[in-house]
Amino acid sequence: MLLWLLSCTMGERLEKRAIVSQFSNMMRRNFSICLQYIIGVVFILVIWYSSWHVYQAPSHRVKPRQTKVHLLILSSWRSGSSFVGQVFNQNPDVFYLMEPAWHVWSRLPLEPPDLLHLPVRDLLRSIFLCDMSAFPPYMSRSENITDLFLWQESRALCSSPACPNSTLIDFINRTECFSNCGKAPFKKVEEVCKNFSHVVVKAVRLLNLEVLYPLLKDPSLNLKIIHLVRDPRAILSSREAFAFLDLDDAIVSKAQNSTSDIRVVMEEICKAQVHIYKLATQNPQPFLKGSYVIVRYEDLVRSPVDHIRELYNYVGLSMTPKLESWINNITHGLLPTEEVFMPFVGDSMKIAQQWREKLHFSKVKEVQKLCQQEMDVFGYRLIESEREQKNMSLDLLLPKPDQFELIP
Ligand SMILES: *[C@@H]1O[C@H](CO)[C@@H](O)[C@H](O)[C@H]1NC(C)=O
Ligand SMILES: *[C@@H]1O[C@H](CO)[C@@H](O)[C@H](O)[C@H]1NC(C)=O
Ligand SMILES: *[C@@H]1O[C@H](CO)[C@@H](O)[C@H](O)[C@H]1NC(C)=O
Ligand SMILES: *[C@@H]1O[C@H](CO)[C@@H](O)[C@H](O)[C@H]1NC(C)=O
Ligand SMILES: *[C@@H]1O[C@H](CO)[C@@H](O)[C@H](O)[C@H]1NC(C)=O
Ligand SMILES: *[C@@H]1O[C@H](CO)[C@@H](O)[C@H](O)[C@H]1NC(C)=O
Ligand SMILES: *[C@@H]1O[C@H](CO)[C@@H](O)[C@H](O)[C@H]1NC(C)=O
Repeated sequence: MLLWLLSCTMGERLEKRAIVSQFSNMMRRNFSICLQYIIGVVFILVIWYSSWHVYQAPSHRVKPRQTKVHLLILSSWRSGSSFVGQVFNQNPDVFYLMEPAWHVWSRLPLEPPDLLHLPVRDLLRSIFLCDMSAFPPYMSRSENITDLFLWQESRALCSSPACPNSTLIDFINRTECFSNCGKAPFKKVEEVCKNFSHVVVKAVRLLNLEVLYPLLKDPSLNLKIIHLVRDPRAILSSREAFAFLDLDDAIVSKAQNSTSDIRVVMEEICKAQVHIYKLATQNPQPFLKGSYVIVRYEDLVRSPVDHIRELYNYVGLSMTPKLESWINNITHGLLPTEEVFMPFVGDSMKIAQQWREKLHFSKVKEVQKLCQQEMDVFGYRLIESEREQKNMSLDLLLPKPDQFELIP
């Protein structure tokens, strides 16, 4: 048909060149036949298209094309996900919530992760759709924005109109946000969320990818996943310095018939990361295409701006010179360190290697055993001696597997 249309327009062009009038008459007739034909074809196309539409499931017909982007930063505890979350949070097109799943886990502390995944997924779906009505059952109180866990990490909730007294200019200052904002009613969160083109959530409490399949298939969502992984030795070291993981550790351990045990937790975390990665990259389900990328924290901190630009591209956000400068500053120790939740503030390259000085070698050996598969799959070099651990000219980051290229 395309060829036919081409010849039609060529006939038209010929007509213009024709000087002899009887020729021109003939061509004009020819042209009107062409025109009738085109109208016919268009008519048939319209009929075909609308009948095809009728055969679609109702949800496909009713829902307009989803233009918002929903991003899930999927990671595990102490893997640098606060950093990645902040990098998206600081973008003015983003509505960000940090760890909403905490509400579910802390409300149902006796249930295993397998079961908790379901309400977490349901909560995520509601958040992505800016419907915050799924929150209150998991909150002890839901009057004001302050009742939301880590609300002060969200740039959107620290700016007007959620916070009329906001002093925010470019970047969030959680200390100032904490003292000036949060007094608006909880309901305001919904209204604010609706104003943004990107809804971004970071979650460490999902140890499974299958549970997200319904969201990936959901036509009302446009879900993209960034899977962030980190050297388990660094995770363990960071966990030792972080005091707020008792509840999570108990939940994860109990599901393995154990009392709270860091070894059980590390093993489960590592297993989960490998499982998620394999599902997403080895013969993946079609709906995962273009919706999953994996990043190693260590690669990220070696060239933060480049990686983040690629991650921004992946979800259709653009990098600004200001954001670039902020990322550079925050990863090179040029901003004051103030936060337990922002362990990345400082020289990120050094921080990524800190475990090599801090973690006892016996623990290194232990976690290498528990997480051997993960280390093998993600390219973290095992060490055999304390000397290797302390030898900083020995690079423990192996070349990344092919699937780690960011372009999905
Ligand atoms: C919540 O907000 C209402 C009105 O804005 C206020 O009266 C109340 O004291 C606030 N509660 C808390 C706990 O901040
Ligand atoms: C804004 O600040 C003023 C003066 O400090 C205060 O009276 C008012 O309650 C604040 N408004 C909100 C919504 O926090
Ligand atoms: C945030 O605000 C506090 C209080 O105004 C200030 O002391 C601190 O330096 C600010 N932090 C940054 C990173 O600007
Ligand atoms: C939505 O964005 C517009 C333009 O930036 C702003 O004027 C308005 O106050 C915002 N509304 C809410 C509820 O965030
Ligand atoms: C935990 O114990 C129960 C009951 O003894 C058993 O059915 C279950 O398989 C055990 N789970 C694990 C992960 O070992
Ligand atoms: C980054 O640091 C430089 C030097 O201290 C400063 O001039 C610049 O304003 C900072 N950029 C941002 C976005 O904070
Ligand atoms: C440290 O590692 C480098 C690179 O593998 C090696 O050349 C060097 O001999 C090592 N130094 C020590 C003291 O082991």
